[in-house]
Amino acid sequence: MRPRIVVTRKIAEPALELLRETGEVWVPEPDRALPTEELHAAVAGADAVVSALHDQVDGAFADAAGPQLKVVSTVAVGYDNIDVPALHARDVVVTNTPGVLTDATADLAFGLLLSVTRRLGEAERLLRARTPWMFHPRFMLGTGLQGKTLGIVGLGQIGRAMARRALAFGMDIVYTGRRRADPGVERELDARYVTLDELLRTSDVVSLHCPLTPQTRHLIDADALATMKPTAFLVNTTRGPVVDEAALADALKRGAIAGAALDVFEKEPEVHPTLLELDNVALAPHLGSATTETRTAMAVLAARNAIAVLRGEEPPTPVRS
Ligand code: DGY
Repeated sequence: MRPRIVVTRKIAEPALELLRETGEVWVPEPDRALPTEELHAAVAGADAVVSALHDQVDGAFADAAGPQLKVVSTVAVGYDNIDVPALHARDVVVTNTPGVLTDATADLAFGLLLSVTRRLGEAERLLRARTPWMFHPRFMLGTGLQGKTLGIVGLGQIGRAMARRALAFGMDIVYTGRRRADPGVERELDARYVTLDELLRTSDVVSLHCPLTPQTRHLIDADALATMKPTAFLVNTTRGPVVDEAALADALKRGAIAGAALDVFEKEPEVHPTLLELDNVALAPHLGSATTETRTAMAVLAARNAIAVLRGEEPPTPVRS
């Protein structure tokens, strides 16, 4: 019998074609985020689920699918929405899509950084509001990046890609994380390993690239924000809850830090109302990996992961316990 493959959101056609060659594919029509009850009903009887980052994938999800479930393949690098131990306890393989979204995400992070430091959103809003303006020597001055220090929290693939972009802009790199990077990586990026406290105290830009875990939830809280320089900018393109959003909104409003560039939010899709009102914030609606090329590559990798497990093979990018 051909396996039943549930794809919880419509993904790129090449990936769906690969999955259709392997099994009976179900995709919601019309495409939408399924509420929990509908999601559980949809995955019943599935051998493989290709899931999205907003699906709550836990023991109840696996039980709703049934004991034949072999793999949950998320079309994302982050998997904080998945209770990996609960799935592994049920012999379900979990896979994600690292690597293929590295450049797109770092591009977006750096683009948002430029947007807030050069006040691009504010400038565009001024023009679109038809506000009278004229060039003058002190008009809408931003902040340059050359010679400034970028502090990277989490020097994984995306953190390293962000560092490479920053080097091209003449920035110095410090980083922190659970462990020190290989000496070769430090040499390539001319990056210095420091404590989180030193990074917060000395960086002109703090960019978050660590995964969301119980240890990193609210890593950037009121105390961390108070440790940052008043002239510093915060960039978050990882997961919203790494930052205490209410504390950030308060710090930005008081001018305790200079600005923030945010692609992710604590209670997505909600955005803290204060952030929407402030000019010193560049905002994007979780677009880090949102290019056609990258989303296609992510979908194809997710499909390959699911297919490998269905064939009894080792998937290309499994999530380990
Ligand atoms: C991820 O992959 O985790 C991003 O947040 C979305 O692409």
